[in-house]
Amino acid sequence: MLFRGVAAALLLLKGTLATVPPIEIKGSKFFYSNNGTEFYIRGIAYQEGYSGGGATGTGQTSDAGYVDPLFNITTCERDIPYLTQLRTNVIRTYTVDPTENHDACMQALADAGIYVITDLASPDISIEANSPVWTVDIYDRYTAVVDAFQKYDNVIGFFVGNEVVNRPNQTDAAAFVKAAARDIKSYIKDKSYRSSLSIGYATTDQSDIRDNLSDYLNCGDQSDAIDFFGYNIYEWCGDQTYQSSGYEARTEEYRNYSIPVFFSEYGCNTVKPRKFTDVPVLFGPQMDDVWSGGIVYMYFETQNDYGLVSVDGNSVSTEVDFGYYSKEIQSATPSGTNSASYSPTNSPRACPTVDDSWIAKSSPLPPTPNSQLCSCMVSSLSCVVSDSVDSTKYSDLFGEVCGYGADICEGIAHNATTGTYGAYSVCSSKDQLSQAFNRYYVSQGKSSSACDFKGSAKVQSASSPSGDCKALVSQAGGTAGTGTVTSNPTATSASSSTSKGAAASLGGSAVFVNSWLSMASLVGAVVTGVLMMAL
Ligand SMILES: *[C@@H]1O[C@H](CO)[C@@H](O)[C@H](O)[C@H]1NC(C)=O
Ligand SMILES: *[C@@H]1O[C@H](CO)[C@@H](O)[C@H](O)[C@H]1NC(C)=O
Ligand SMILES: *[C@@H]1O[C@H](CO)[C@@H](O)[C@H](O)[C@H]1NC(C)=O
Ligand SMILES: *[C@@H]1O[C@H](CO)[C@@H](O)[C@H](O)[C@H]1NC(C)=O
Ligand SMILES: *[C@@H]1O[C@H](CO)[C@@H](O)[C@H](O)[C@H]1NC(C)=O
Ligand SMILES: *[C@@H]1O[C@H](CO)[C@@H](O)[C@H](O)[C@H]1NC(C)=O
Repeated sequence: MLFRGVAAALLLLKGTLATVPPIEIKGSKFFYSNNGTEFYIRGIAYQEGYSGGGATGTGQTSDAGYVDPLFNITTCERDIPYLTQLRTNVIRTYTVDPTENHDACMQALADAGIYVITDLASPDISIEANSPVWTVDIYDRYTAVVDAFQKYDNVIGFFVGNEVVNRPNQTDAAAFVKAAARDIKSYIKDKSYRSSLSIGYATTDQSDIRDNLSDYLNCGDQSDAIDFFGYNIYEWCGDQTYQSSGYEARTEEYRNYSIPVFFSEYGCNTVKPRKFTDVPVLFGPQMDDVWSGGIVYMYFETQNDYGLVSVDGNSVSTEVDFGYYSKEIQSATPSGTNSASYSPTNSPRACPTVDDSWIAKSSPLPPTPNSQLCSCMVSSLSCVVSDSVDSTKYSDLFGEVCGYGADICEGIAHNATTGTYGAYSVCSSKDQLSQAFNRYYVSQGKSSSACDFKGSAKVQSASSPSGDCKALVSQAGGTAGTGTVTSNPTATSASSSTSKGAAASLGGSAVFVNSWLSMASLVGAVVTGVLMMAL
């Protein structure tokens, strides 16, 4: 009681805590929910020591750890005055730690009128371009971040991927990104979180994929589609014009887009200093009806030379680009519209069909990760991976077991080009390997030599699925995994036991599970034939 009294008194002393109205989407624009004024993003990317994009476009994998930029109130308070000087109303963070408490920084940002859009991935848990999967491990990470941030009114939404799809041969990854968008949207709904929390994707600027990608993520059933589209763009370098930069062409491409689109990174640095002469154009009449502003890459100066400031402990010094950006952003006055007088007319794009340049089917999408399904499946198996097997061995083991028969790996197959997804393709790599081992073991009449794999597999006593497990495993088509699970994951995803152990080796999961295909094709022509049939 005493403590409560003291806390209340402190709050009173400090004055009423600032609240910000949530931002909501209508048609292809963002609006303040309190008064319907259109909201334009005057954003800055805010993550120290993380190569989130820029010219190299490395949005995802890095072995380095990361510093959660919304955890340490000392650094937030150090930086907010500089963000405010730049009229910042949005920061983009690339990776945050959902196990930390973010109340202090989020409140300090709200007090300054600053909103947050954060990516859901972490350096080691993300949808990877060359070996995309949508598994319980990634689902658990993504939903944990949503759980941690949904309560703050100054969160606009989340990116389910950043520069995941970068080349024509990686466009199958778009199916996994879209499945993630579908499932995170459905998770927010099932948990009754604020309905204005929105889900987007941040794309790289690649001429041979951008049209198809924008169509794909926006088309079809809107509960599967993204809510906003971020465009990482480095086209305006040095002295350019609306026309010469490419901004005009991009603007025409999105003029009829049905959801908000904004620059999720911008600020080419091939000509230094950066004078940001694109800012008045982005926020001016040629672009402000199509684009909802943009996020400058980035706040912190690092080796990649995009910083607006340098920080050293508690001190901040501004770079020369800071002054140039400041000058331009001060006079950014987009005209905007009011929500009440705006009737959206743009409709979603048509889905691209599969061809040589676009290899992701629009339907079906990858199934929803369901950790309960995976643990139910594992307990129903008679042959599983031995605990002593190091996860670095999984790749070879997938190659071996999947090579033994046309249907052995059907239950874990995942091919976005053919739209073939085994029900257990959502499980951790260890669980998937157990599923395949068991399938082989059963196919050999449970002969004990068929559950060995040089000691990598072991026999266990299978428990017959009951209760929820019975329904789930039955939807999945039993141990074969060729069915379709229609039950939603139960809301408490974090309680899963299967996914936790595997989370640490998730980077592995993607690699292993995908590499059994290429591994197997090395094993020989027979095996390759078998796999093609299986898929
Ligand atoms: C609407 O509300 C926002 C947030 O409080 C504020 O910044 C904006 O100026 C308001 N719009 C008008 C027209 O008053
Ligand atoms: C796509 O092509 C690039 C470059 O040729 C290559 O590095 C990458 O591994 C390929 N990805 C896939 C999934 O084949
Ligand atoms: C949008 O415009 C593009 C041309 O920029 C056109 O190809 C496409 O059909 C239009 N889509 C809709 C839904 O109007
Ligand atoms: C927070 O940041 C300050 C300034 O960089 C640093 O001195 C301090 O150690 C950090 N605190 C934590 C808990 O990391
Ligand atoms: C994808 O885009 C390319 C280039 O923009 C185009 O040639 C191709 O036909 C598109 N593919 C589909 C399936 O729309
Ligand atoms: C998906 O299946 C097609 C057709 O069998 C095949 O060409 C392609 O390589 C497969 N993709 C992956 C990622 O395995």
